[in-house]
Amino acid sequence: MDALTDMGEESRRAPGEAPGLSDERCRSLLSELDGLKRANDAVVLAHYYTRPEVQRAADYVGDSFALARLATTVPQRTLVIAGVSFMAESMKLLNPDKRVLVPDPSADCPMAHMVSRATVLEARERYGDDLAVVCYVNSTAEIKSWSDVCVTSSNAVRIVRGLSQHHVLFIPDEHLGRYVAQQVPEKHVILNDGRCPFHAQIGAREVRDLMRAHPNAPVLAHPECTSEVLEIADVIGSTAEIIEAAQNSAAQEFIVVTMSGVQAELERRCAPGKKFHFTSSSRCPEMDKVTLGQVVACLRDGVGEVPMPAHADAAAATLDRMLALASNKG
Ligand code: 13P
Ligand code: SF4
Repeated sequence: MDALTDMGEESRRAPGEAPGLSDERCRSLLSELDGLKRANDAVVLAHYYTRPEVQRAADYVGDSFALARLATTVPQRTLVIAGVSFMAESMKLLNPDKRVLVPDPSADCPMAHMVSRATVLEARERYGDDLAVVCYVNSTAEIKSWSDVCVTSSNAVRIVRGLSQHHVLFIPDEHLGRYVAQQVPEKHVILNDGRCPFHAQIGAREVRDLMRAHPNAPVLAHPECTSEVLEIADVIGSTAEIIEAAQNSAAQEFIVVTMSGVQAELERRCAPGKKFHFTSSSRCPEMDKVTLGQVVACLRDGVGEVPMPAHADAAAATLDRMLALASNKG
């Protein structure tokens, strides 16, 4: 599945709109946040995996591609990125003149570090100009700077299919890389030894148990899952594509094989009564680190500013290429 995430899939929220927030502390934080956003000319962008109250506080919620693209179009001078550090780093690379704040700088995707320079150099040595190094956006700026083009889970298949090179080194995620290789068999895709530990630990056996318990529920899976899980999925897609599939389906219940942070948006967007079943270990502990209090504090205290990463020009070029290729409808 290689459909692009449409801009309309992020959720624009009116200031102060906070359904279900009854807790006094949350209300006071949200009201403080509104004032701080105005005073700082700031916008809050949150990933679907963050805590529900963080998503409620955000002006936009989206998948990693939609947020990266959106960040280049919003007028505000300050971007607060409620997500893990590679996301904030990418926003800084794409928006060098803006102030980018990350509420919890320790929230870090482990997969973003899982490739060595030697792997890239060996492949370049072996395949020369007929190799493209394709870097999943879940990667540090340094890793991006070694690469030719970035992709996200919502555009990887389409971007790889359109490359002129025959050989593709896909880093760092072996599972997304394997999925892309299956979808684009005309390319020679070289896989790397890296993965999301939280998606990779979801077992096909547990998914099958859920299928037996809920026989009418389609299985919606993120391509960071293992191939054994993807083989039994009805829909494979990014977080935004999973949410969209559930929203557009006539089914009343779904087995959702990704991090359960997406539940907040699934419930917000789907007709009342639709049910979502997750596997037992389905939280991203890094995204969970980001709290509403930290979102407020980074604006109030001016902390968590993301510096321009080293290797910025080369790293930004890979993101710019992704945005250009993704908007090319050919
Ligand atoms: P999306 O690109 O679907 O937002 O996924 C990001 C991610 O980190 C998945 O684990
Ligand atoms: Fe990284 Fe996995 Fe968390 Fe996604 S779910 S941010 S890949 S650790």
